[in-house]
Amino acid sequence: MTQPKRYLVTSALPYANGLKHVGHLAGAYIPADIYVRYLRAQKRDVVFVCGSDEHGTAIPIQATREGTTPQAIIDKYHEAMKQDFEDLSMSFDIYHRTSSPLHHETAQEFFTKLNDAGELEIKETEQYYDEEAGSFLADRYIKGTCPNCGSDRAFGDQCETCGRTLSPDELINPVSTLSGKTPVKKKTSHWYLPLGKHEQFLKDWILEQHKDDWRPSVYGQCKSWIEGGLQSRAVTRDLDWGIKVPLKEAAGKVLYVWFDAPIGYISATKQWALDQGKDWKPYWQDKETKLVHFIGKDNIVFHCIIFPAILMAHGQYHLPDNVPANEFLNLEGDKISTSRNWAVWLHEYLEDFPNKQDVLRYVLTATAPETKDNDFTWKDFQARNNNELVAIFGNFVNRVMVLSHKYFDGKVLMGSELTSVDRGVLEELKQYPAKIASSIEQYRFREALSEFMNLAR
Ligand code: 2FM
Ligand code: ZN
Repeated sequence: MTQPKRYLVTSALPYANGLKHVGHLAGAYIPADIYVRYLRAQKRDVVFVCGSDEHGTAIPIQATREGTTPQAIIDKYHEAMKQDFEDLSMSFDIYHRTSSPLHHETAQEFFTKLNDAGELEIKETEQYYDEEAGSFLADRYIKGTCPNCGSDRAFGDQCETCGRTLSPDELINPVSTLSGKTPVKKKTSHWYLPLGKHEQFLKDWILEQHKDDWRPSVYGQCKSWIEGGLQSRAVTRDLDWGIKVPLKEAAGKVLYVWFDAPIGYISATKQWALDQGKDWKPYWQDKETKLVHFIGKDNIVFHCIIFPAILMAHGQYHLPDNVPANEFLNLEGDKISTSRNWAVWLHEYLEDFPNKQDVLRYVLTATAPETKDNDFTWKDFQARNNNELVAIFGNFVNRVMVLSHKYFDGKVLMGSELTSVDRGVLEELKQYPAKIASSIEQYRFREALSEFMNLAR
């Protein structure tokens, strides 16, 4: 296969409303970092972008919780997450933020381009409105019973118990989280992306062209979305926190966070290019670029269907080549939960295990939830450290050093000094780089790591 000319690799932009835990790291960050470090070691042209996702209702909700402003929240968590990632040695080329003027401009240009080209439609709908609070309710501000699993803690956008993506209309017994009252329906107009228009293209592109190279779980989710019929998706919201819709008739409306966030990958690349004196365009608009999005499975539809439809509608962009989404990592047999504080937070880990980033990176790669949900346990962490990193890898390095000094004056033997046994071992070792590379190129990081440990073994 011919090699791509360049790579643009992204890790999901985390919401700036909290800190990072092992579930996030295993899902979208450590695998991307391994992939990028591998590409750089191969001297390939690669740009690795990430940044904070600073819009959407998650931010004002957190501000209310902490008794402060949305701006204070994003400033605090952007800095904290940036530091967390640095402490973990994530090798982003840029860690950007979606509150930057460059991003606002880029997202608004996208909206304008799509709107002017007739790629959006305006629809008047009835949406939930809280009469007591005097505002329309974002999906996250409505709670109710999940039609799928019956949990009474589902939100208007998603049920956190079963993971199903929802719309507020599907909730049974909806209640406003602002006032605790039952909301009423009120008319409002929004701009929609008609996904149905792109259905045939998405079918050909994903279901035919990516049948064999996308992970079965990613492919399967896309297939079920496409076959379930693609509905138009609103790309604007009645909210005061976000990027203003660039039209005078849209006062009080902002772009939907999932419209602007993936465009954040593009604005991050633009900022990187400005800083480096490079051109950002080939990374996004040239067919010879390989675009890879690392995400968790709850983000699949946005990266595989909605963002590609936006890029398609724009017309000048290259689409993602792969989206190796991971499943979820649980903790000691239970779902990781921020609200219940059931998580191993990166900053706490680093306080308890200073300078042991690589142990965490090793364990999270060895147990990466690549094909199914997986469990992080401290017993397993201890066993992998002691029985694998120390007993196999550490021991291998230690013996090589000690024995070379003891018997060979610390020199590596070459050419005619080698015995036939030495040559046999060297021949065998030579197979490993290609094996490991092939696993990494197919986003099988656990397999790559296990091959690497076989070498040591
Ligand atoms: O799920 C999340 O945390 C989102 N903030 C991910 C956004 S990824 C991208 F589209 F920016
Ligand atoms: Zn549910």
